[in-house]
Amino acid sequence: MLALRIGREKAEELRTKLSELGLLDGQRKIVENKEHVEIPVTGLEGIDLDEWGAKSIEQESPVERAPVYDPHIEIGKKVRIPFELIEHLPSKWEQLGDVVIYKLDERLREHEKEIAKVYAEVLGAKTILEDVGGVEEDIRRPKMRAILGTETVTVHKENGVLFKLDTKRLMFSSGNIDERVRMAKVCKDDDIVVDMFAGIGYFSIPMAVHSNPAEIYSIEINPVAFEYLCENVKLNKVEKKVCPINGDCLEAAPEGLATRVVMGYLRRGELYLPKAMRVIGDKGIIHYHETCPDALLPDRPAFKVHNAAESEGRKVEILKQRRVKSYAPGVSHVVLDISVS
Ligand SMILES: C[S@@+](CC[C@H](N)C(=O)[O-])C[C@H]1O[C@@H](n2cnc3c(N)ncnc32)[C@H](O)[C@@H]1O
Repeated sequence: MLALRIGREKAEELRTKLSELGLLDGQRKIVENKEHVEIPVTGLEGIDLDEWGAKSIEQESPVERAPVYDPHIEIGKKVRIPFELIEHLPSKWEQLGDVVIYKLDERLREHEKEIAKVYAEVLGAKTILEDVGGVEEDIRRPKMRAILGTETVTVHKENGVLFKLDTKRLMFSSGNIDERVRMAKVCKDDDIVVDMFAGIGYFSIPMAVHSNPAEIYSIEINPVAFEYLCENVKLNKVEKKVCPINGDCLEAAPEGLATRVVMGYLRRGELYLPKAMRVIGDKGIIHYHETCPDALLPDRPAFKVHNAAESEGRKVEILKQRRVKSYAPGVSHVVLDISVS
């Protein structure tokens, strides 16, 4: 069992190099002691041992890695459909509580019930929904069809926060998890937050659970999302911090008092940014989301921000622009942290 022995200081650099060269042996664990590290390898091509100060050894007692459990492989083994169709099984899905959502290849149509049964069994779900594609704009209602089960209301737990929602009627984007985690910690004590597009509380609730703002005004236009926003406030016991408001943020968002504004809606920035500038009091931060063709990054979102600032007579500085996720081929979902004064 071949391995490379190297001093601790250069071990991580060598591990990265071996990984790039495809020489790491993933079946065995890396073993460390006080002086050196043993990195299991499958070969030595392209590695100059003298240059690295490394030594090749035969591992006497290699430590095997436990095989990684892959539910997709498990599903492929269990499902009873013609063998040639197995490769078309959904390899990606969204699991929200005990509801699983996936897109289905048309070639699998006549076996959809059998397939759904196995996904439900392996993933521990009670309902399987097919994502038929697209969302109704503005209220962001996804288009779903139940293949198995009827109960589409579920409670999804993420980062210590409970999100109750009806998965057939509302969106929950797992791809935004990093941003929800970031927002959970971003508030300063005594921040006054206005979440202009609160949904079911995607950002408001993590902020209230994990930080200590003075108040969060959470505005939501869609009555269905608003109903769950109110439920989630109770479920997470943050009634003292979150004030849900049902309405259009253009009218309902209180002006002149916020120190922090969250704009988690991806469209019509030019319409909503001027309002966000008025929602901020003397000074504060706006977290502005947008979807933008990669070819127009980083300039287009910043251009919209500067335009809005000019129209509202405010001074802005873009503190940060980060990519949240890929939204569509060649299109990114980005978020800008903007300081307003
Ligand atoms: C879908 S959420 C954003 C997704 C979320 N960031 C996530 O992590 O999945 C956006 C919400 O804004 C709401 N909305 C859209 N226009 C609005 C407006 N003018 N005022 C208040 N809420 C609005 C939609 O109903 C929706 O619930």
